[in-house]
Amino acid sequence: AYTPRPEDRFSFGLWTVGWQARDPFGDATRPPLDPVETVHKLAELGAYGVTFHDDDLLATESDRAKAVERFKKALEDTGLKVPMATTNLFTHPVFKDGAFTSNDRDIRRYAIRKVMRNIDLAAELGAKTYVCWGGREGAESDAAKDVRDALARYKEAFDILAQYVLDKGYDIRFAIEPKPNEPRGDILLPTVGHALAFINELEHPELFGLNPEVGHEQMSNLNFVHAVAQALWHGKLFHIDLNGQHSTKYDQDLIFGHGDVKSAFFLVDLLEHGGYDGPRHFDYKPMRTEDPEDVWVSAAACMRTYLILKEKAKKFRADPEVQEALRAARADQLAVPTLAPGESWSDLEKDEFDLDAAAARGYHYSRLNQLAMEHLLGVR
Ligand code: GCO
Ligand code: MN
Ligand code: MN
Ligand code: MN
Repeated sequence: AYTPRPEDRFSFGLWTVGWQARDPFGDATRPPLDPVETVHKLAELGAYGVTFHDDDLLATESDRAKAVERFKKALEDTGLKVPMATTNLFTHPVFKDGAFTSNDRDIRRYAIRKVMRNIDLAAELGAKTYVCWGGREGAESDAAKDVRDALARYKEAFDILAQYVLDKGYDIRFAIEPKPNEPRGDILLPTVGHALAFINELEHPELFGLNPEVGHEQMSNLNFVHAVAQALWHGKLFHIDLNGQHSTKYDQDLIFGHGDVKSAFFLVDLLEHGGYDGPRHFDYKPMRTEDPEDVWVSAAACMRTYLILKEKAKKFRADPEVQEALRAARADQLAVPTLAPGESWSDLEKDEFDLDAAAARGYHYSRLNQLAMEHLLGVR
């Protein structure tokens, strides 16, 4: 029952399982992983898709044409899809002050060219979503750049890229990935809310949505389930990065569910019952302690955890006691518009309202929450 199948639409970035576990304090603990091997392993494990940064393809083969050729053959041999692609605008030293928002104009122009080049490959491989994570778009000093100018340049880059996609006739939309900090001291578009507001200022807002990552909102001490629900409400949940995080530490990128498991439960409940039909994309890092075999154990764990939580969420929704508790909490009433059809503000003035009685009503959330806990803990 917990065996992943392509219909489950699980996908992984090449950079996740391929992470060599270099950190600011230590060298790599694992050898580079051949993207071809990754494609075969992911297909064996039951994944549906693989995603990549332009530079990920060059992990073990420096000739780009050859690397792309080998990658394509592996996709053909396994049937694995490429639903999303992205650009590495953060590793090379040239991006140390950002890419689209670097103070250096020639670097900004190079960054946009680098994205355009990989969009061509993304389109060729059938990707429908192009993720933009601005990891280096930020600063450590508030004197370093005028944030208003930086946002104007950020918008300019996205407007150029949208025009590029339209002119080329590609069926691709962009998904912006917020993150509050790391690697920069402060990163622009730090949360889902910031990114949603920014999208409204673009020339083609319809081509832009979000790629929220579990750990990134949690690093800001925000509720990820609420962030995803709001993105869905705006019609902007284009993609999602699933992983685990314990609160407001450095970006942990743990296995999905291995951080805040209760939030993961409600997240899966929302994704499964809230109308999201995109890939369930894992953006995690196998721990630095793990050997090359353990890497595949961790990838399998992401998918298995998702499927376990999916089953639990389904049972939670179907449990008559839960349904009763939801009614007792009047949760269903929230979907009823506050004004009846034909009513206006003046009708509110006619209401007869017992203030004390309304204030005295309890919502019985303790029981509802405990029912969720018991489903999650496996005793129901
Ligand atoms: C992070 C980010 C990155 C991006 C990825 C796409 O953990 O800081 O999630 O992993 O998602 O690089 O550009
Ligand atoms: Mn992360
Ligand atoms: Mn991510
Ligand atoms: Mn990541």
